[in-house]
Amino acid sequence: MVPNTSEEGISQYFDAGCFTVLFAKRFFVAVFTITSIFFVLLFNTWAYPDLAPRSVVDTGTNCLCQERREVFESPRLGELNGEMDVDSNITNQHINSTMPLDIKPTWEASHNATAYYQERRKHSCYYPINPVSMFSKTVPSKEFKEKGCKKRLPEVVIAGMRKCGTGTLMNFLNLHPNIAITNHEIHYFDNNYDHHGDTEWYREQMQYSSKTQIPIEKTPTYFFRPYDAPMQMTRTLTDKVKIIVILCDPVRRAVSDYLEFVRKFDQSSLGNIYSRKYLAETFEESVIDNRNEIQVYNEIVDVGIYVKYVHRWQEYFSFEQLLFLDGDQFKKEPTTELRRVEIFLGLEPFFRSEHFYLDEDKGFFCASFPQPSCMNASKGRSHPDVDPDVLKQLCEFYRPFDDALVRTTNREFSWIGKC
Ligand SMILES: *[C@@H]1O[C@H](CO)[C@@H](O)[C@H](O)[C@H]1NC(C)=O
Ligand SMILES: *[C@@H]1O[C@H](CO)[C@@H](O)[C@H](O)[C@H]1NC(C)=O
Ligand SMILES: *[C@@H]1O[C@H](CO)[C@@H](O)[C@H](O)[C@H]1NC(C)=O
Ligand SMILES: *[C@@H]1O[C@H](CO)[C@@H](O)[C@H](O)[C@H]1NC(C)=O
Repeated sequence: MVPNTSEEGISQYFDAGCFTVLFAKRFFVAVFTITSIFFVLLFNTWAYPDLAPRSVVDTGTNCLCQERREVFESPRLGELNGEMDVDSNITNQHINSTMPLDIKPTWEASHNATAYYQERRKHSCYYPINPVSMFSKTVPSKEFKEKGCKKRLPEVVIAGMRKCGTGTLMNFLNLHPNIAITNHEIHYFDNNYDHHGDTEWYREQMQYSSKTQIPIEKTPTYFFRPYDAPMQMTRTLTDKVKIIVILCDPVRRAVSDYLEFVRKFDQSSLGNIYSRKYLAETFEESVIDNRNEIQVYNEIVDVGIYVKYVHRWQEYFSFEQLLFLDGDQFKKEPTTELRRVEIFLGLEPFFRSEHFYLDEDKGFFCASFPQPSCMNASKGRSHPDVDPDVLKQLCEFYRPFDDALVRTTNREFSWIGKC
């Protein structure tokens, strides 16, 4: 629950006329909390001398305890150096080099807008079928029943990564007639699991999908938080659930993340008090400390050590269930990454490069089929000038982790080796 800190919310305690009792209660709660925190910190320092407590960093409101849990359970950084023992036989790639990523779909709906709308109408639970305003009215009840429209738990989860193009990926995938993506981030496994531990609440957040559609949810924080998200997913969702993670250059990602937090902080709300802890005046100061070392415990740096998190997912999901996309490639040319998703999900090939165009002003791809649609420009904020030495230092820092990522996912990523 978000504490009610509005003027009204606070004054109602005083109006209640039991100020003294309330004060005493609060005093004891405060003393208890402070003592507990002290002991937890003490234990933490003792058990993990090389792991300083991380700052709490989310815009969410109730992730404090999960962060804490993560500090306790995170693998130590030392275990993740370049020497990591990665099973070289592992292949994430159900999608291998023999699979053509450049095939032309023969589906009529893929190049004829009229046919597209008909096809979409055939599968969708919503009407009018307008991909720009995707979630309007549901179809008339008879049709609704015939199609088996239901709110289903996701069969596919886009689990990350923040600032790597998950929003664009979601919008583009939503064009596929056989995909039904929920248009808001549900945050079930990070913020709502403890409160709404029953799956009914989760299901209720999903959009309707028909029998011929795959229900998908996207919450980009699952990839790294909470620590046990992969395990909770195996408990909650079908054991065939598939996970898509889009990764991108961790250096560029850190800059975007920084900008996003600055923006959120500027529009300050209660939840963002936490961002103050790790947002320095500049990006450089946020990632490099005054001894000129990388601040690995700053979340914007830490989450870029992708391999650390990928291992968690691999512990709970088979390789057929995990797809890692290249966000930098996706940004340059979305179609091949979308084709990977189609193959991964066993969907009829639909996407064509003609469906997308590069908006020069915005600097990212927009959809032109079946009609032009584009995200708001704020999504493609331009980056400030960052000290190139800092970028290089970060890039070198990530290098061994990136190499380990390649080994464990059996996939090359286009950003690697650029410093
Ligand atoms: C990896 O593959 C090789 C050859 O196919 C095989 O001999 C070896 O046992 C495999 N290793 C593991 C860990 O499965
Ligand atoms: C690549 O994928 C195809 C189709 O799934 C499969 O037949 C082939 O054996 C795979 N090749 C390798 C090297 O894994
Ligand atoms: C597009 O599809 C519609 C409906 O299937 C069809 O009537 C029309 O002839 C098609 N147009 C072209 C140019 O193929
Ligand atoms: C874009 O911005 C406008 C106005 O700020 C808003 O009404 C609209 O919902 C936004 N569209 C998207 C796709 O976020």
